[in-house]
Amino acid sequence: MSKLNIGIILGSTRQGRLSPQVGEWVKQIADGRGNANYEIVDIADYKLPFLGESDATEQATAWNTKLAGLDGFVFIVQEYNHSITASLKNALDFARDAWNNKAAGIVSYGSVGGARAAEHLRGILGELSVADVRIHPALSLFTDFENGTVFKPADLHLVNINGMLDQVLAWSGALKVLR
Ligand SMILES: Cc1cc2nc3c(=O)[nH]c(=O)nc-3n(C[C@H](O)[C@H](O)[C@H](O)COP(=O)(O)O)c2cc1C
Repeated sequence: MSKLNIGIILGSTRQGRLSPQVGEWVKQIADGRGNANYEIVDIADYKLPFLGESDATEQATAWNTKLAGLDGFVFIVQEYNHSITASLKNALDFARDAWNNKAAGIVSYGSVGGARAAEHLRGILGELSVADVRIHPALSLFTDFENGTVFKPADLHLVNINGMLDQVLAWSGALKVLR
């Protein structure tokens, strides 16, 4: 069986965001395992307007084509007002079939590990028929980032990142058969 393609989706798009640091860290660990193809998927690159506000055929096609080529996802999730970012919600709304019957893991951060945003995302993923795995690395803005800006993850998260990736790969492979 060919290697699975897993997209590491950066959930924030604001200038000065921390998500690229977290995404690169996850990718580095994932690449080291050598058992799947991992790529960073940056929502900001797709310049999606708010859904329905203007003609976005080109952007929507590019976004859906990218998602269609992926077998599973790792969402890098940050907590904004106890939920996910507007840009992640908008990007989720911009596709349907391309999400369906795939697996996802969540890596979140915030003052309490981004837990509230992660739980909101799980509810949305259910509607999109994305199977979200249980193991959830939750990073603290206080202890995993120096001055809240420079990412210095505690070693203890490695076990959870690997556990989450194990589950994402197992379910992504199983759901590929279903698709
Ligand atoms: C609009 C906004 C709302 C926020 N609300 C929360 C919150 O409810 N809980 C929390 O833990 N952090 C909150 N934060 C802090 C963010 O989690 C933190 O700034 C994080 O770095 C944002 O991710 P990003 O840097 O990738 O954009 C908020 C930040 C912003 C910009």
